[in-house]
Amino acid sequence: MFKSEVYIKRREELRKKLKAGIALFISNLESPMNYPDNTYHFRQDSDFLYFFGIDLPGFVGLMDFDSGKDRIFGNDYGMDDIIWMGPQPTIKELAIKCGISDTASMSKLTDAIKDAQLKKRKIHFLPPYRGETKMKLGALLKENPCQMKTLASVDLIKAVISMRSIKEKVEIDEIEKAEDVAYEMHVTAMKMCKQGVREQDIFGAIEGIALAKGGGTSFPIILSINGQTLHNHSHGNILTKGKMMVCDAGAETNLHYASDITRTTPVGGKFNDKQKDIYEIVLKANTEAIKVTRPGMSNRDLHFMACKIITAEMKNLGLMKGDVDDAVNAGAHALFMPHGLGHLMGLDVHDMEALGENFIGYNDEVKRSEQFGTAFLRFALPYKPGHVFTVEPGCYFIPELIEKWKAEGKFKEFINYSKIDAYMSIGGIRIEDNVLITEKGHKVLGKPIPKTVKEVESVCS
Ligand code: GLY
Ligand code: MN
Ligand code: MN
Repeated sequence: MFKSEVYIKRREELRKKLKAGIALFISNLESPMNYPDNTYHFRQDSDFLYFFGIDLPGFVGLMDFDSGKDRIFGNDYGMDDIIWMGPQPTIKELAIKCGISDTASMSKLTDAIKDAQLKKRKIHFLPPYRGETKMKLGALLKENPCQMKTLASVDLIKAVISMRSIKEKVEIDEIEKAEDVAYEMHVTAMKMCKQGVREQDIFGAIEGIALAKGGGTSFPIILSINGQTLHNHSHGNILTKGKMMVCDAGAETNLHYASDITRTTPVGGKFNDKQKDIYEIVLKANTEAIKVTRPGMSNRDLHFMACKIITAEMKNLGLMKGDVDDAVNAGAHALFMPHGLGHLMGLDVHDMEALGENFIGYNDEVKRSEQFGTAFLRFALPYKPGHVFTVEPGCYFIPELIEKWKAEGKFKEFINYSKIDAYMSIGGIRIEDNVLITEKGHKVLGKPIPKTVKEVESVCS
């Protein structure tokens, strides 16, 4: 945990934004894999972590905005638990660590809610994303558990987003630690990227690094020679010459801050000409976009800038044609880059996504596009100092999508379908870095991970 002052200050800040009612923050529970006592690795709810820091299951934090008092509800462990789990801290001891002296057993929570309901006070909560939390909220509030997401407090959602979006110094320090682990993971993956090696071997080796050096991975590792599948979670292939390995992987620190890096490595460590052609395009989109990242610039503008670089360079290669601006305005580039340039990152690798992407990256003035590709952009607003973003352009040869568009004659004024065949074996290339927006510009977080053709070839050799 951070020092108790960090959590005290955050709750004070939230109190300034929400002046009446109560807010419930429900911690996650252990989640069974195949029988109740055989559970998945425990991951605390990020909002609970942010305001209370306690990294254990089975608590509820209650903030009373009228009285200004905070209380932690939970049950102390009994002897039966201690026999299996060893000595455990009491609720009181845990609550003190986040600056709260008022605790109560979980059974008292029902009374607190009843009291608030009788007095017709507003009960704020964030949209639950786990079944157990929906059930708990449904039971407490006497509402249909399936409706809990729609009943969540928009005021609380907006207040939490405004706070969590802007990273504190202690949070940036944590993200930097997660970047250091990502460095080890990616350099190891590059060195192992040799003909005959199984994807699973590399996956296991780098997952092991994330576990050994921190709190495990920040999302299921994407590692594949079929990088054209954007989030490919199967690792059954053997690396073969001529293929490229996309490795999109990051770590969580023990305090659960994330890194999210992608590197793409040619199997055997040497780029052939065609691989180099496309790699240099994605690299240019990545480095040029990072260069201009600064407060006031919007993630949507940066996204389109990267798309235009990719389109212009694909035109130079003969894969696209026509006017670059027209092609991007029409959405033709999305054949090769069908995703957004980046997303916020923090306690969640897609930060706060559980609160609703449209609350995070869009507002009343800036609406989500419905165009294929651009619709996947997670954030369209201007950057602010303290934001931590990914910059992750990619170029993909997705056979099913290419076949479909080709058969439809879609964007045939912008795409040279006959030239694409020669590049199909590349699969996909993505290059992703993590950037802090500073007052004057930006800072790429973490130790630089080999990225240029020369650097990648050198580390592989
Ligand atoms: N790691 C998934 C992503 O880059 O969004
Ligand atoms: Mn990623
Ligand atoms: Mn990402």
